[in-house]
Amino acid sequence: MGAVLSARDLLLDYRAADGGVLSALGPLSFQVASGLFVCLLGPSGGGKSTLIRILAGLLPPTAGQVYLNEIRIAKPSNRVGLMFQDANLMPWRTVIDNIALSLELAGVDKKSRLQKAVSLLPALGLGAEFAHAYPAELSGGMAQRVALGRVLIQRPDVLLLDEPFGALDAFTREQISLDLMQMWSNLRPTVVMVTHNIDEAILLADRVLILSARPGRIIADIPITLPRPRRIEDSYRAEFGQLAAQIRRALQTP
Ligand SMILES: Nc1ncnc2c1ncn2[C@@H]1O[C@H](COP(=O)(O)OP(=O)(O)O)[C@@H](O)[C@H]1O
Ligand SMILES: [Mg+2]
Repeated sequence: MGAVLSARDLLLDYRAADGGVLSALGPLSFQVASGLFVCLLGPSGGGKSTLIRILAGLLPPTAGQVYLNEIRIAKPSNRVGLMFQDANLMPWRTVIDNIALSLELAGVDKKSRLQKAVSLLPALGLGAEFAHAYPAELSGGMAQRVALGRVLIQRPDVLLLDEPFGALDAFTREQISLDLMQMWSNLRPTVVMVTHNIDEAILLADRVLILSARPGRIIADIPITLPRPRRIEDSYRAEFGQLAAQIRRALQTP
């Protein structure tokens, strides 16, 4: 589990509506060690989602390359799991059938894929009674838990999360981040997670990267050395507050 993720000299220009060029990202380079949890923060429109789509192999950069353990990624791979703010579940499939989707696409037989999906439910914080529920019966938080299960069942080496809890209320968000932290410490994928929540970033990350306004470049790279396991109560510690202040200052850099 885990892999070294490297972005080298990435640059992304979109074609603007007026026919000109919109510089969305870069140039930027960074490397994430295998199994590390990185949070990415920055102003809206600064290119964070663009960067995630490039790292996922969904969007070819205008220049530069992405490598996974020194092997270039140029298209989506099942070693890289991706999750967005919107759970995007298939409404006609039950919870376990949604979670098992990637195994089904990979041709895994029904019995073993459903077994795997069911065995993930406790870690996802989903009671067995939800196994056969449909997405319409789930709260937003539960739907995101299912979406997380759908990605984790592939045992990805890299997990890319684009504001995965952005639409959830504060309490639900806290609970699901704690569960994510637990699953990450068991499976140890390399994680890059976009968030707007400074406390969530400090709670989860080993390292916080801050992107500038468009075109997004890395303007700060802040190590989070708080000991693990971490708890919500750690946010009352002085060290936590100092990190929050440091991140807030970096985000205010013009
Ligand atoms: N497909 C696209 N075509 C043109 N411009 C785009 C496209 N996608 C995003 N943009 C623009 O690129 C910039 C960066 O967008 P995005 O990566 O979504 O930023 P963030 O996720 O940090 O809010 C924004 O100005 C956005 O409007
Ligand atoms: Mg975005």
